[in-house]
Amino acid sequence: MSPALELRSVSKSFGRTPVLRDLSLAVAAGERLALIGPNGAGKTTLFELASGRLAPDAGQILLQGRRIEGWAPHRVQRAGLGRSHQVSQLFLQLSVAEHLRCALLRGRHGWRWPAMGDELAQWLDRLALAHRAEVLAGALSYAEQRALEIGLAAAGGAPVLLLDEPTAGMSAAETARCVALVRTLSVGRTLVLIEHDMGVVFELADRIAVLVDGAVIALDTPARVRADPRVQQAYLGAALV
Ligand SMILES: Nc1ncnc2c1ncn2[C@@H]1O[C@H](COP(=O)(O)OP(=O)(O)OP(=O)(O)O)[C@@H](O)[C@H]1O
Ligand SMILES: [Mg+2]
Repeated sequence: MSPALELRSVSKSFGRTPVLRDLSLAVAAGERLALIGPNGAGKTTLFELASGRLAPDAGQILLQGRRIEGWAPHRVQRAGLGRSHQVSQLFLQLSVAEHLRCALLRGRHGWRWPAMGDELAQWLDRLALAHRAEVLAGALSYAEQRALEIGLAAAGGAPVLLLDEPTAGMSAAETARCVALVRTLSVGRTLVLIEHDMGVVFELADRIAVLVDGAVIALDTPARVRADPRVQQAYLGAALV
C-alpha cells in the first residue's frame, strides 16, 4: 500500500534562506506520526507544502499515492487532507454550527443541507460544543476554539489529518481533553501532529520525526527517538520526558 502522505526530496527556500532541504518522509496509512523540532525548524512550512498553501521549489508530494505538489489547497482538501493551523483560522463572526456545516459540506460533493442535522449534532457532541452551537467563534474560550479547529479539519471526513500544535497554550486539563479528542478523531485515519508538548507526543505518536534546520535527523519509535543522542543534542537538554 502506498504511504498516506509522502514527501520525496522536497526543498523550499524563502528568498535565499533554505527552510526545507531535500527532505524525504513517508507516513504510513493509519499511522500517528508526531513531527517535532525546535522553533523555526520548518515544521509548519512542511504542512504549508503538504496542504497546497505553498509549492515546493523541488521534489514531489504524494497524498495516498497521487502527486499533489502545486495543487490549490481546496483541491488537496478534496483529495483527502484535513488540516488545522498553528494560528486560528476561524471566522470570528460565524457560529460554531455554521463552521461545522461548512466543514461537513466540504466533505460532500453536492448540497444536501437538510440531511445534515444528525451529523452536525454528532460533531457538536464529539467536540463537547453542543451547548455552544449558536455561539460565535469569537466568543468561545481559547480551548473551545482549538477544539473547533480540530473538528473542522476532521469533519469533512479527510483520511489524512495534519494538526499544527493543537494543545499549544492549553492548561493541563485542557490538554488532556484535547489529547482524548485527537485520539478519537485519529481512529481509522492517518495523523501527522506537530507538537512541542512531549507528554502529548509520547501519548499519541506511533513514530516521531525530528526536524532540525529543515532536515529529518531522526525517524523512529518514541522510545528510540528519546534515546537518540542526536535528538538530545538538538534539544540541548530540553525535557524529552
Ligand atoms: N512565508 C514566509 N516567508 C519568509 N520566511 C518564512 C515564511 N514562513 C516561515 N518562514 C521562516 O521559515 C523558517 C521555518 O518556519 P516554520 O514556521 O516552518 O517553523 P516551525 O518549525 O513551524 O517553528 P515553530 O515551532 O516556531 O512553529 C523560520 O525561520 C521562519 O521565519
Ligand atoms: Mg510552526
